[in-house]
This record gives sequence, C-alpha cells and structure tokens, in this order.
Amino acid sequence: MGPHSAPPYTLHITWKELLLTASLLIFWNPPTTAQVMIEAQPTKVSEGKDVLLLVHNLPQNVAAYIWYKGQIMDVHHYITGYVIDAETIIFGPAYSGRETVYSNASLLIQNVTQKDTGSYTIQIIKRGDRIEGVTGHFTLYLETPKPSISSSNLNPREATETVILSCDPDTQDVSYLWWINGQSLPISRKLQLSENNRTLVLFNVTKETAGPYECEMKNPVSSSRSDPVTLNLLPELPKPYITSKNFNPMENKNVVALTCEPKTQNYTYVWWVNGQSLPVSPRLKQPGENRILILANVTRNDTGSYECEIQDRVGSMRSDPVTLDVLYGPDLPRIFPSLTDYRSGQNLYLSCFADSNPPAEYTWTINGKFLQSGQRLYIPQITTKHSGLYGCSVHNSATGRERSTFKMIRVSGPCHGDLAGSHSWLPQQRH
Ligand SMILES: *[C@@H]1O[C@H](CO)[C@@H](O)[C@H](O)[C@H]1NC(C)=O
Ligand SMILES: *[C@@H]1O[C@H](CO)[C@@H](O)[C@H](O)[C@H]1NC(C)=O
Ligand SMILES: *[C@@H]1O[C@H](CO)[C@@H](O)[C@H](O)[C@H]1NC(C)=O
Ligand SMILES: *[C@@H]1O[C@H](CO)[C@@H](O)[C@H](O)[C@H]1NC(C)=O
Ligand SMILES: *[C@@H]1O[C@H](CO)[C@@H](O)[C@H](O)[C@H]1NC(C)=O
Ligand SMILES: *[C@@H]1O[C@H](CO)[C@@H](O)[C@H](O)[C@H]1NC(C)=O
Ligand SMILES: *[C@@H]1O[C@H](CO)[C@@H](O)[C@H](O)[C@H]1NC(C)=O
Repeated sequence: MGPHSAPPYTLHITWKELLLTASLLIFWNPPTTAQVMIEAQPTKVSEGKDVLLLVHNLPQNVAAYIWYKGQIMDVHHYITGYVIDAETIIFGPAYSGRETVYSNASLLIQNVTQKDTGSYTIQIIKRGDRIEGVTGHFTLYLETPKPSISSSNLNPREATETVILSCDPDTQDVSYLWWINGQSLPISRKLQLSENNRTLVLFNVTKETAGPYECEMKNPVSSSRSDPVTLNLLPELPKPYITSKNFNPMENKNVVALTCEPKTQNYTYVWWVNGQSLPVSPRLKQPGENRILILANVTRNDTGSYECEIQDRVGSMRSDPVTLDVLYGPDLPRIFPSLTDYRSGQNLYLSCFADSNPPAEYTWTINGKFLQSGQRLYIPQITTKHSGLYGCSVHNSATGRERSTFKMIRVSGPCHGDLAGSHSWLPQQRH
C-alpha cells in the first residue's frame, strides 16, 4: 500500500493530469470488455459503519485506478486515485477524508453517512502501447433504519379533523410505503399521499381510517417497518339540552333543578345565564360535576335564559337557551297619585300598580263594595258623595296570592273661594 498522503500542492497537479488522461480514455472503453464487478462488504451497511467496495475482474497491466462519486467522471466527482508504479495515492475534490483506496483497487469507506449513498464509479487505466480503460459502477445503499410515525394530532375529532402522518426519518434513495390494518392503503378521497409517499394526509378521520398505521422504508438492500400507530378518536360532541321538572317555579317556594343532558363522564359542564357565565354563589349548587344546577329558594331575579355547555379537551358545544320564568307576586299594590283631597266637579283618576308575574288582576272597591275591575279608575265630575275609602286589590292566579291597598279620598263642596279646611289623610294600607 502506498503512502496515504503527500503535500497538497503536488497532489493538486497530479490528479488533474491523471484526470485529463482518464477523460480521453472514456471513448475508447470497449463495451464488450469483461465487466469489472464491484461488491460491497458487508452487503448491508448501516450508518456509522464501514464498507469495503471490493473490485473483481480487474484487467491485466493496470497503471492506475480512480474512484468517482456518481457516474460522471469529472473533476468535481474525483474522490481518490492510486498510481501503481509510484505507489501513490491521489485525492480529489470529492474526497471526504473517510475513503481509502488499496493497491488492489478496493475502496474502504469508513463511518458511512447518508450522503455516501448513491453510485460510485471506478475507472481503471491500463498501461501498454495503446492506452485502454475500463469502468465499473456500484450503488451504495445504507441499511434502512427502523422508521417511526409522527402524527400532527393523535386525538383527532371524529369525522371533522384532518391528520398528517409522517414517516421518519426523511431519507434520500428510499421509498416509503404505508399500511393500514396490515393492508396496503385503499384508494380513497380521504387518504392522500405526498409526492414521495413519506407523508399521509387523512381527511375527516373516522373509525375506519383511524388505523393502526405502519410505515415502511425500503431500498434495494433492506426494508424496515415502524411500530403501528392508532389514532385515538375523540367522539363528536353531542348538542346538549336542558331538562327540568319546572320551568315556571314560584318565588321563595320552589327549588329548581336544571339538568344538562346527556350525561357523560368525559365532559366538563358549564352554565350560562343571560349570556353570562354563571356567577359564583352559595345559593347555586352544582352537584354531579356541574351537570345539575340547583336554584334553592328561587327568586324573580333568577328569571332568565339558561344555557349549558359541554366541553372536552378540544372543543365545546352549547345547548339552545331555555327560559326560566319565575312566578311571583303580586307585591303590595300602590295607588297613584298620592293626592287625597279633591273638590266637587274635579275628575278622579286613580291607577294602581303591583309587580307580579303573571300580571295581576286589579279590582277597585269603595268602602268595601265592588266598584270595578281594571288597573285604572276614572270617575268624572265627582261630588262629596264620592268621598270614601278606596281599595285596590290585586290577584295573581298563578301564585294564588292576593293583596290590597286602601286610600281615603275626601271630596269637599264646590269651591267657596279657597282651599280652607282641606287637610290630608294619611293613606292607609292593609295587608
Ligand atoms: C483488497 O485489499 C483489501 C485490503 O487489504 C482486502 O481487504 C480485500 O479483500 C482485497 N480485495 C480483493 C478483491 O482481493
Ligand atoms: C464517525 O462520525 C461521527 C459523526 O459524524 C463522529 O462523531 C465520529 O468521530 C466518526 N468516527 C470516525 C471513526 O470517523
Ligand atoms: C370533510 O368534512 C367536511 C365537513 O364535515 C366536508 O366539507 C369535506 O368535504 C370532508 N372532506 C372529505 C375529504 O371527505
Ligand atoms: C407512492 O406509492 C404508490 C403506491 O401507493 C406508488 O405507485 C408510487 O410509485 C409511489 N411513489 C414514490 C415516489 O415512491
Ligand atoms: C371516556 O374517556 C375514556 C378514556 O379517555 C374512554 O375510554 C371512554 O370511552 C370515554 N367515554 C365516552 C363515553 O366517550
Ligand atoms: C328560603 O327563603 C326563606 C325566606 O325567604 C328562608 O327562611 C329559607 O331558609 C330559605 N331556604 C333556603 C333553603 O335557603
Ligand atoms: C332582585 O335583585 C334586585 C337588584 O339586585 C334586589 O334589589 C332585589 O332585592 C332582588 N329581589 C329578590 C326577590 O331577591
């Protein structure tokens, strides 16, 4: 074996000369010449290991060998050469520092990397009167590593989400294959492979397309398959709805329980009142992980629009609103205006109001006798005979409650000059 290196400036000139000679030889390389055979040892090589490219069928009278990376025999692809007589090794631009050429033309590549894969060409230059040359080619493949599948989303929402599976690592000179349930991929609009087949897009994943998936890397010397990967589908969220035994409870009387359906362990339940998330209050009990909302001692202020929402890890779904209509009242009625002293000839115009749901029925009495129904009382041109105790009674047929207010009205005689003698009576109220 020759010396491994020489001063770089001399090498530079030498390989160029050798290359020029070699280039001229390409045309004279008879295609019928006994084929130079190249064999890799070992036949399967993995990254980081060494490989020896053994050359068989070497011709007689060899003067030099040149190894090229690829199939193009030019300056840029020149790795290394060996001149037999001079026992000299020459290095070219494609030399990585890991190649060693032996006197028998074999090439050792140490610590191979992905970049070393591809074809190699040896050019054999013969001595003699006529310059002759032969070439041989070899393609180096590395043993495929065990691939793995990475997914853009391992928990896609059933039938709505798109998932991208990738087969790693991304390597040149290998083909990628996919398997679903141990079968090759069916042709489907829901499955789409990238150009090099390394990534697989799954549209609207369903149980049928959730896997298990395996990917395979393959080259002419080896193939390897990944572990299977199955997507864990999140079921579609159902639209929740609210149930209750009573959407029309009575104030301070009924306890209201609103239940969010359906019941599932895997959801979080959230409540909304009039579009606002439910305020924290000791009155509002939410047993069963918030699925049931209990309004103890319901009041008119609990009237409103209620919605419930179910949430899972990635999404939420809200129910239609239901209206809680709290029945209450009537409250104590009030009579307007507060004026109590009138004169003959004036008009008496009274109105009564009591908060109530549903609205109260109003009845007017004078001195305990029924006068009329309706919220307003109008008596034109009153006389002293209209003096008396006026009562307004309110009744809520839904709550069954009734309340009354009374007001003394005093009508004095026709105008005798001024208001002398008139004085107010305090309005009386009875419950
Ligand atoms: C060429 O030389 C190398 C290193 O000495 C040796 O390992 C290999 O077997 C030889 N190849 C042939 C074809 O004799
Ligand atoms: C092989 O390559 C690795 C990484 O490129 C490097 O760390 C290591 O030193 C190399 N070994 C040899 C023997 O060249
Ligand atoms: C995926 O689902 C959406 C709506 O759910 C639909 O519009 C779309 O066409 C579906 N895509 C495929 C490839 O089935
Ligand atoms: C991708 O896979 C299909 C079959 O699924 C095959 O026909 C095609 O040649 C492959 N393409 C590449 C670049 O490997
Ligand atoms: C709830 O989640 C568990 C584990 O995440 C799953 O096994 C189960 O099927 C889910 N139940 C429903 C009703 O979705
Ligand atoms: C309901 O309200 C009444 C009075 O308004 C009160 O006495 C009672 O303790 C309340 N009950 C609850 C369960 O809060
Ligand atoms: C309803 O709310 C109002 C304003 O917050 C409050 O003044 C009133 O007392 C409440 N009524 C009842 C019956 O709780």
